Amino acid sequence: MQFLEGKDILEGAQFNRKEIDSIMKVTDDFKQELLSSRSLDLLKGYVLATLFFEPSTRTRLSFETAMQRLGGTVIGFSGAEATSVVKGESLEDTIQTINQYVDMIAMRHPRIGSAKQAASVSTVPVFNGGDGAGQHPTQALLDIYTIHSEQGDIDGSTIVLCGDLLNGRTIHSGVELYRHYDCKLIFVAPDKLRLPKEIVEQLRTWGCKFEETNDLTNAMKEADILYMTRIQKERFENPEEYEKLKNSYVLTREMIEKANPNLKIMHPLPRVSEINTDVDPLPGAAYFRQVKNGMLVRMALLAMVAGKV
Ligand code: NCD
Repeated sequence: MQFLEGKDILEGAQFNRKEIDSIMKVTDDFKQELLSSRSLDLLKGYVLATLFFEPSTRTRLSFETAMQRLGGTVIGFSGAEATSVVKGESLEDTIQTINQYVDMIAMRHPRIGSAKQAASVSTVPVFNGGDGAGQHPTQALLDIYTIHSEQGDIDGSTIVLCGDLLNGRTIHSGVELYRHYDCKLIFVAPDKLRLPKEIVEQLRTWGCKFEETNDLTNAMKEADILYMTRIQKERFENPEEYEKLKNSYVLTREMIEKANPNLKIMHPLPRVSEINTDVDPLPGAAYFRQVKNGMLVRMALLAMVAGKV
């Protein structure tokens, strides 16, 4: 039995280095296979449910294409308005219902801990596609894969993570994976959106090399990777506070021209204003390639959870 067979994918912390390496390897294999065929039939007959209680473009559509390119099919909803949730059905009951139809569930929900709550009653594996400001492990894995494919090794790199580090779930899952590499992390955020204290404490316990600052230009001087994130509007209680912070960091072409010529720029997307569009044509702008990697990594995860690789 393979290590992911039948397992839930809930948080970055569930993976060790060896496991991350083997997910990267399976992803590479699928990438190769897709060069010669549009789809495979590894998961023929399997059905995935995508239950998205919160907006999504990439995560949902990449899970769905990943399943379809593996020969499986998909059911689901995007927005719970048309489901029995509006009648007052609990998450547990919704999950136990969907369990009767499908082989796996990918879900996104606004509440921290909701994916774990779903997994605790589910008879089929649950993929956490984002639980509020909590975790987003499949995104963090595709971020790691993107660094691998853009520059090879992660060991020895300096990675700058910038934006809403307080609420950014891709960052929260990301640090749980980066800790397995010999890299330096520089966290750039406005004071009010710094990394949660518990995560900073964990980084210390793990003995990671890291710094916190609010100076992006200075941090970029030594960066190999710049990972920009959106200020998470939907997590603010006070809209005025969001207005004040929304343009804290705006990456321009000029700033990149002064940085390391090999700098790779990543972003989980959606972008609002934090990367100027004139950055897009630069060779280091990796964020749309990163989107494609999302489908490939999710293919690997679906096949591994199904026990097929
Ligand atoms: C991220 C998310 O939903 O957490 N997007 C994604 O899944 N690619 C980032 C964000 O919404 O800012």
